[in-house]
Amino acid sequence: MRIISITSLAILLLFIGLNYGCSDNKRPAVVFPKTDLAESPLIPMPVKMSSTSDAFGLDQYTAIKATGTDPGFEEVAEFLAEKIRTKTGLVLEVNPGDPENIDRMIYIQQTKIPGARGKEAYQIEIKKDSIVVNAEHPEAVFRAVQTLRQIIPETSNDTLADRSIWVIPTGLIADEPYFEFRGSMLDVARHFFSVEEVKKFIDLLAYYKINVLHLHLTDDQGWRIEIKSWPKLATIGGSTEVGGTGGGFFTQEDYMEIVAYAAKRYMTIIPEIDMPGHTNAASVAYPFLDGTGNPLKLYEGTRVGFSTFDTRRDSVYAFIDDVVGEIAAITPGPYLHIGGDESHATRPADYVHFINKVEKIVQKHGKRMIGWDEVATADMDSSSIAQFWASEKNADLAVKKGMKIIMSPAKKAYLDMKYDTVSKHGLNWAAYIPVDTAYNWSPERYSEGIPRESILGVEAPLWSETISNSTELEYLAFPRVIGYSELSWTLPEKRNWEGYRKRLAAQAPFLDRMNVNFYRSDLIDWKDSKFTYKEIPKD
Ligand code: ACM
Repeated sequence: MRIISITSLAILLLFIGLNYGCSDNKRPAVVFPKTDLAESPLIPMPVKMSSTSDAFGLDQYTAIKATGTDPGFEEVAEFLAEKIRTKTGLVLEVNPGDPENIDRMIYIQQTKIPGARGKEAYQIEIKKDSIVVNAEHPEAVFRAVQTLRQIIPETSNDTLADRSIWVIPTGLIADEPYFEFRGSMLDVARHFFSVEEVKKFIDLLAYYKINVLHLHLTDDQGWRIEIKSWPKLATIGGSTEVGGTGGGFFTQEDYMEIVAYAAKRYMTIIPEIDMPGHTNAASVAYPFLDGTGNPLKLYEGTRVGFSTFDTRRDSVYAFIDDVVGEIAAITPGPYLHIGGDESHATRPADYVHFINKVEKIVQKHGKRMIGWDEVATADMDSSSIAQFWASEKNADLAVKKGMKIIMSPAKKAYLDMKYDTVSKHGLNWAAYIPVDTAYNWSPERYSEGIPRESILGVEAPLWSETISNSTELEYLAFPRVIGYSELSWTLPEKRNWEGYRKRLAAQAPFLDRMNVNFYRSDLIDWKDSKFTYKEIPKD
C-alpha cells in the first residue's frame, strides 16, 4: 500500500512537472502564422540556426525558470525578465513558486555544451511551449539572452488572441564566438564622458555581444582617474579637455561602478594609462615626470607626440608603480593597457628601456600588459599583447615575439573616422570609413604577417577629439560598431555584406527605442521603427 501510494505520488508529481509550463489549454488555442527563425535579423549572426516554422507566444502567461549551481544563471534570468519588461511591458516571474497561471516557460539551464571551444558557447531551442537556453557558464547564457532579446519582435501581435502576444519563431540556435576578445574603446581623455554616458555605451555594446570596453583614461589633454597617492593627477590633470570646455575625472568609486556595471554584462573593462608619450596632463600635475624640459601648461588642443615622461629617472618608475598598483587593485579583468603610442618626443632607446620596465611593473601587479603596436619594438614578453592600429611592421614583430594581437587597423576599425566628406563629426587622417567599408574586411586576413592564431580579437576604438557627449558618440559609433561585433563573433564564411545590410536595417527600431543617435547611412534601407507584422488569417 505504502509503496503504491509513493509511486502514485511520484506519478502525480511527474504529471504536474510535465505540465508545468507546457500547456496553454487553460486558454483557447492560438493559431500562429508560419514563422522562419532563420529570417530573424540577428547581429552577430550565429553559427547555426534552423527553423521549425511554429511559434512560441510570449505573453503574460509566460515565466522564466533558471537552474544551475552558479548564481549567475538566476541573475541572467532576472536580466532577461527586466529587458522583456522594458521591451514589451510584460512582467514575467522568475522561478515562480506557483505555476497556476503559467502556460509557457523560458528555461535557463546550466548544461555542458559538447564540443564547445570556450566559455561563451550556448544553444537555444525554441518550441511551441518552451524556450530552453542551455549553456555551461553564466557568461554564455548572457550572450544567449542577447540573441533572445533580438528574436523578440519590437511589437506584439494583438489580433491572435484576447491579449498581446509577441510571436517568437521556433527552431534551434547553436552558437559560439569566433574571437574571444570583442571590444570597443572610448577615449574619455580628449573629452570627458560621465559614468551614465559610459553605462549607456556598455548597454548598447553588450546587446551585440561585445565583451570588452577599453577606457583610454589619460592623455595630454586630461587625466581622468583618481589616484589616491598622487591626487593632483585628477584635480589638476583632469581639469581640462579639448576645446577648453572643462574636464572631469572618475573617482575610484565611479570607476568601480563602471567595472561592476560592465561585469554584470560579462564585459571586461581595460584601463589604459598612456605613456611615456601622451602625458602632458600628468607632467603638469607633477613636473618631475616630464622628460622634455619644455615649459609645462595644460593643453586643450589636438596635436600629438610632444610630451614624454623622463624615462631615466627612478622616481618616475616609483610613480608608475603606485599608479599601476592602484588601478590594478580596482580592475578585476586580466589586462592593463600602457599605451605606448606616438611617443615621438622619446628617444627610441629610451622608449625601449621604458616599455621594458613598465611591462615588469604591470606583471608585478598581476596583470597582462597591452600596448599599442609600437611596444613590439621593446623586448616584450610573449604574454604581453600588441594592439595593431597603424604599423604592420610592428605587428609582424609582435607576432615573431609570440605576442597576441588585437586587431584595430585605423583604416578599417577606427570609429572616429568620418563616414564621408560631409560627416558631422570625426577625423579623416586614416580614411573615410562608410558603413560598408567598416564591415567589408576580415581581421583574420588583413595582414599576411598576422595569422589567425596570433589574433586575440578585434577592437574598434573611438577617439574623442571631435565628440563630447552621448549624442555625438553614438553618431560615430553606430551603426559601425555593430558591424565590428559581427566581424569578431561570426564565422568568416557566415559574413556577407548583403545579408548583413538587411539585418542592420532591422536594428533601427531597437536603436530608436534606446534613443541612440545612430548615423542613418543611405547605404542601408532602415526599417521603419513601427513594427509591421505580416498577418496570416486564422482558419
Ligand atoms: C593611436 O591612434 N594613437 C593609437
